[in-house]
Amino acid sequence: MFNIIIFGPPGAGKGTQSSKLLERYELVHLSTGDVFRSNIKGETELGLLAKSYIDKGELVPDEVTIAMVEDFLATRKDAKGFIFDGFPRTISQGEALDKILTKMGTQIDVVLALEVEENELVTRLLERGKVSGRSDDQSEDKIRNRFAEYNGKTEPLLSFYNDKNILRRINGIGNIDEIFGNLCQAVDSLNHPSK
Ligand code: C5P
Ligand code: MG
Repeated sequence: MFNIIIFGPPGAGKGTQSSKLLERYELVHLSTGDVFRSNIKGETELGLLAKSYIDKGELVPDEVTIAMVEDFLATRKDAKGFIFDGFPRTISQGEALDKILTKMGTQIDVVLALEVEENELVTRLLERGKVSGRSDDQSEDKIRNRFAEYNGKTEPLLSFYNDKNILRRINGIGNIDEIFGNLCQAVDSLNHPSK
């Protein structure tokens, strides 16, 4: 398997770039945010629980998210690999992911971190909010709360992955195809990307 984490703050372009990457490298997309949102739509128990956090721009508790990821992976064991989008978001989630993947006989090959500065992100998210219908894109307050969560809980993962030597930082500002090109270059420069 070949596994990528696409990393970055809210609005960095993780979802946009994931759809391009999964096509090119034939990977299965796991967007934890998308899974939560479809559970919210379907009014499942998980959806109801997740909604209470997502609406406030807070993170869903680790054990809930980790169990959801574990379930997702268990049903897709024949995948060529995964692209993790929006997960992990805490060190505990990162450690849990390592354990799950080890059990599956695989590992994270690369973490692609999109770098975009905060004011640009706020502008992007408010724009997206006009069409996404996402409750958490609707006000600057909620968006700022998501950044606070990112800065406090998620950003420490950068050194977690840097220490493992699998972190690649990519400029996330500019043209979508240009950014995609830089991401592909980072993937292709690895020793054994399975293509
Ligand atoms: O990844 P995305 O931006 O779509 O996530 C939307 C929201 O889902 C986050 O702001 C957070 O409330 C929740 N989430 C979470 N833990 C994750 C992924 C998403 O709590 N690992
Ligand atoms: Mg997203």
